[in-house]
Amino acid sequence: MLLTLTRLTVPAALLVPALAAGAPESVPAQGKALHDQHCLGCHDTSVYTRADRMIHTAELEAQVSQCAAGPAEVDWDRDQIRAVARYLGETFYGF
Ligand code: HEC
Repeated sequence: MLLTLTRLTVPAALLVPALAAGAPESVPAQGKALHDQHCLGCHDTSVYTRADRMIHTAELEAQVSQCAAGPAEVDWDRDQIRAVARYLGETFYGF
């Protein structure tokens, strides 16, 4: 398993107020904020673009949901999971 351990360099708190205030951010932008805050503890974004990546289609939402509920230990609702999946899909997976 080739995982690169990374730590956030941008204080996550900087990203949160915009979400809490319901600022009119795009769905992928919200997903990026959530992702960058909660999902970079174990792997960086290179797992999404590596040659033998696991995710190819709409399984992405299921994987986000699993990583959220399991290792990342965040209690996301469906919209939050969708937002992160859309961010990853548009930015890295290309679907
Ligand atoms: C505690 C560690 C941990 C955290 C936190 C974590 N993940 Fe993961 N994630 C993993 C591991 C381990 C894999 C499998 C990597 C492998 O097979 O090489 C993985 C794989 C993935 C993949 C599949 C990559 C591929 O091969 O296409 C996605 C998508 C993903 N994670 C999304 C997330 C999201 C979204 C979050 C935040 C909610 C998150 N991860 C948080 C450990 C973690």
